Amino acid sequence: MEQNINAFIHHTIRRHEDRRLLAIDATCGNGHDTLLLAELYDQVIGFDIQPVALDATAKRLRQAGYDNVKLVLDSHALMERHLGEDSIDLAVFNLGYLPHCDKTIITTPDATMAAVETILRHLAIRGLIAITVYTGHPGGQLEADALTAMLKSLDKHDYTVIVHRYLNRRQAPFAILIERMQ
Ligand SMILES: C[S@@+](CC[C@H](N)C(=O)[O-])C[C@H]1O[C@@H](n2cnc3c(N)ncnc32)[C@H](O)[C@@H]1O
Repeated sequence: MEQNINAFIHHTIRRHEDRRLLAIDATCGNGHDTLLLAELYDQVIGFDIQPVALDATAKRLRQAGYDNVKLVLDSHALMERHLGEDSIDLAVFNLGYLPHCDKTIITTPDATMAAVETILRHLAIRGLIAITVYTGHPGGQLEADALTAMLKSLDKHDYTVIVHRYLNRRQAPFAILIERMQ
């Protein structure tokens, strides 16, 4: 069993082999998730609102030799205008703040839900959205509650929505996985 949520998410992404054409990293941060997507997918689009995050991501990708990622300095809430006609096979969100940076720049319920809704409209059948949710910082619980309420309302015939969470660790991050069924 994976010992932390990020390792679990990476393991899940690696196992999701259905179609690997287009992936989205909605929160690039330091680029750890973007790098994995670049390795596995033909094309990746990554978003962040902080130039420092996209610089770190670009450096990580350059050092690893990947040139299949388009990095976009924009809110994931406005993702629609950066997408084309292609269906999305996988999207990853790692919510909260950028570690070792300004902890007041955080993902927000409205923007996160707008981005998830956009991706749901473009998600391929068998496509997957993987979200890591943090509740330990101010605003985190609010975002977690808003997001889970919205996802609970998705039709079970269209989407499978699963929460993966520790029961014996207080305020540990948890993962939400959404797969489009039909
Ligand atoms: C926890 S960090 C992501 C960590 C990253 N996945 C990694 O592997 O290093 C969250 C990131 O979300 C970004 N963010 C916050 N609000 C955003 C928004 N509306 N659109 C895009 N990115 C946003 C922050 O700037 C921050 O870099």
